[in-house]
Amino acid sequence: MEAMLPTYPTHYGYWMGPFNFVLNVYHPDVVKTILSKSSPKGPGYKRIVYPLLGDGLVVSSGEKWKRHRRLLTPIFHFNILQQHCQVFNSNCQPVIDWCEEVAISGKAADVSIMLSEASYRNMMECMMSQVPDVGTGEDYNELVRQATEKMLRRWFNPFYHSEFIYKLTKDGKRFYKIIEMINDKVGEIIRERRAVLNSQESDSVETTKVDDKATEESFAFRKRKGQYVDFLDVLIQTKDQDGIGLTDEDVVDEVKTFFSAGQDTVSNGLSWFMYLISKHPEFQQRCREEINDAIGSRPDVKISDMSNLPYLTQCIKESLRLMPVVHLIARQLDEDITISHRFNGYKEIKLQKGQIITVNIFAMHRHREIWKNPLKYDPERFTPENSAERSSYAFVLFSAGPRNCIGQHFAMHQMRVIIAQILRRFEVYRNADTPEPKPIVGLSL
Ligand code: HEM
Repeated sequence: MEAMLPTYPTHYGYWMGPFNFVLNVYHPDVVKTILSKSSPKGPGYKRIVYPLLGDGLVVSSGEKWKRHRRLLTPIFHFNILQQHCQVFNSNCQPVIDWCEEVAISGKAADVSIMLSEASYRNMMECMMSQVPDVGTGEDYNELVRQATEKMLRRWFNPFYHSEFIYKLTKDGKRFYKIIEMINDKVGEIIRERRAVLNSQESDSVETTKVDDKATEESFAFRKRKGQYVDFLDVLIQTKDQDGIGLTDEDVVDEVKTFFSAGQDTVSNGLSWFMYLISKHPEFQQRCREEINDAIGSRPDVKISDMSNLPYLTQCIKESLRLMPVVHLIARQLDEDITISHRFNGYKEIKLQKGQIITVNIFAMHRHREIWKNPLKYDPERFTPENSAERSSYAFVLFSAGPRNCIGQHFAMHQMRVIIAQILRRFEVYRNADTPEPKPIVGLSL
């Protein structure tokens, strides 16, 4: 990629198989035009991702996507996130206990496993108040992991792209069996919850009000008495202006979508952060001092602490600039458009409806015309002064525009809480004997 930049500074095209010509873009001028539109995802999503996630926010398009996006927005409202912060704090305890054991043993150990467990617990509890059976091999995480692995294998095997052929293969049969198990598990939880929320008994439910100052909308959600509002409470009760909500099938698809979009992303982001900060003890110490100043001896990190952790936020952003856990996203144009850039003079390129585009976040985050010394880990890039000079489309960790990440505040708060709880107690070192970690291609969304 680096070698291609002098000839192709903003984008290039390539054939993916005999029929699909793909334009790979990685310059903010061009990316801005693409991400400002709510074009549908690439064709592979409908064919390969749909069987796992269904028609949830990640896969759906057009009017259905617009309606669901609006209906789902209250899930990430401040009042609800505030309650979820308590869940993040309490799920740090197993990580802290594990770190303590490792510190006492004096032996190196892989922290990414514990970070993945913490984000899994957070997701299951915030999404549907389920305390998961971590590591049993039969839990929800394991089913999704197996299904995602099969989906990836299918993605890279053109023969498996035909639904007819895939369903006849051993892999395909197992894949659809797993999907059935996931759908049954989630469907049952939804039915149970509907029954509780519809119950008229006043000792089983309370109401939480969510006022959205930006849109001046107000939502009231019933919740189980003494519990926090989870994603399921909102998914089941949210209604559009005509008073129509989501069907059980819609809710299953959105639950699967949130889980797939929100679990591995956060856990991989945390792991890369720990790796990069372990290589920079001076930045790590500055984060620790900031955390101690902001939180003191208080056991929990609160949502109100977030704005007092600017340096930690800069370090997280810098980790995710270098290692963006969603490194590539795809679109297929639903109208003719013109993209332009000012690189080496002004250039315009006309693109036709149907064109497949990949936004290469990884390449853009390391573009040497945008980032000075791009491979260097330097949190100073994200001070308000240094960020002001840059296009807001140069750093698109959570994408940008109408189809940006709906869970970005949930993700950032969760990462800040987990990191703060670890760094305030421990110093993170890298074991010199461990090989350098390498990014691998997976599928998070
Ligand atoms: C570090 C963590 C995360 C990263 C880097 C990330 C990144 C992204 C990106 C780049 C997109 C755009 C995808 C595309 O255009 O194809 C996206 C969309 C999305 N993300 Fe995240 N995400 C993260 C965490 C989460 C979490 C925690 C949730 C849910 C709890 C979530 C839910 C979603 C959903 C539902 C979409 C689709 C939005 C739409 O199309 O309207 N993400 N995310």
